[in-house]
Amino acid sequence: MKRERTLSMIKPDAVQKNIIGRVIVKLEEAGLKVVAAKMVRLSKKEGQQFYAIHKERPFYNDLVDFISSGPLMALILEGEDAIAKNREVMGATNPKEAAAGTIRAEFGDSIDKNVVHGSDAPETAAIEIPFFFNEDEIFE
Ligand code: CMP
Repeated sequence: MKRERTLSMIKPDAVQKNIIGRVIVKLEEAGLKVVAAKMVRLSKKEGQQFYAIHKERPFYNDLVDFISSGPLMALILEGEDAIAKNREVMGATNPKEAAAGTIRAEFGDSIDKNVVHGSDAPETAAIEIPFFFNEDEIFE
């Protein structure tokens, strides 16, 4: 096991539904610790940049519109195997396929409005964390 950090976003659909707290409870219960947090609204340009990895996908424009449609909460989560642990508690991308008890199964409406994002690998976390946070905004 390794101590890791991962980037989590509580997406605009979840902020709109007023379930930020319920999502964070799930993350904490999974053994993840919030070491940084901020509420931000991404511009379209920032949304394009954040999801640049998906720019050839057919859903890219809708994804960028959605992620910049309202405020989101960005978090850094820390813990043993935090990247995998976060993805486990998030559940499958499509809430309809997500295991019972996961965040997306409980709160997700659709593959687009799926409540949370989490880095999928250490290399991704290393890009996504500094996208939102400076070192002095991270607390042990
Ligand atoms: P996320 O983990 O934030 O990464 C990219 C997002 O694209 C994903 O969650 C989904 O919300 C969204 N998305 C929309 N359609 C698809 C699709 N067909 N496959 C994967 N992701 C999709």
